[in-house]
Amino acid sequence: MSAYDVSVLGAGKFGSALAGRMRRAGLRVAVGSRRHDTPQVRAVHGGDVMPYEDACRASGLVVLAVPWRVAVETTARLRPVLAGRVLADATNPVTADWSRLDVGEGGLSGAERIAAAAGGVEVVKAFNGLKAELIDGPVHGPPVRQVWCCGDSDEARARVMTLAARCGFLPVDCGRLENALCLEAAALLWVKLAYWEGRGEGLRLVLDTGAG
Ligand SMILES: NC(=O)c1ccc[n+]([C@@H]2O[C@H](COP(=O)([O-])OP(=O)(O)OC[C@H]3O[C@@H](n4cnc5c(N)ncnc54)[C@H](OP(=O)(O)O)[C@@H]3O)[C@@H](O)[C@H]2O)c1
Repeated sequence: MSAYDVSVLGAGKFGSALAGRMRRAGLRVAVGSRRHDTPQVRAVHGGDVMPYEDACRASGLVVLAVPWRVAVETTARLRPVLAGRVLADATNPVTADWSRLDVGEGGLSGAERIAAAAGGVEVVKAFNGLKAELIDGPVHGPPVRQVWCCGDSDEARARVMTLAARCGFLPVDCGRLENALCLEAAALLWVKLAYWEGRGEGLRLVLDTGAG
């Protein structure tokens, strides 16, 4: 049995908020941080903060919460210790000024480029549409915030959706990993509306089933 239920890579605003919520949901959470031995990070994550490599080894489910500009290289570096694990990619691949998606030369989503960097690791795009400040809400009670999830492995996607539900979110099955570009674009839309125009705090996806 793994020592932890889940690992979060990056003790920044988002990674720390998510790790805190997971702990409030009763999960054992390891946090990977470059600053694992600093009092500031220890004050937040106690003895559960460690170098990135150790956090990857600590559980079978790893959430990537580092800035997009270092996400691919971080994943490539960690590839040996990510083998056999599920990697949930929470990053948003945007240009430095947050005006556009960074689709690189191949027009691929960030999640697909992370999957390529990770080798055979199952990647699930997830959590990228959540605003860090809203993660502090209640874990129990009717779930309000959605977590969009897409990935090629049904098992890996289900695992991340179960994690999201356990944390009091509403998981939304968004299909295969090729759909990640759509989720990344949706996240950029909410950022622009929420931060630039002060309209709302996020987006919700609603599937019109055609009924009614
Ligand atoms: N903020 C949000 O509301 C939000 C919502 C959805 C998704 N996201 C995504 O989550 C990711 C993290 O966002 P954030 O808001 O938490 O950003 P942040 O506050 O800047 O934190 C990012 C963390 O990444 C780690 N990191 C590792 N290598 C790094 C490097 N070379 N330079 C800088 N930081 C490095 C650092 O943690 P250590 O020092 O502990 O290693 C840093 O604290 C981004 O990809 C973002 O798009 C954020």
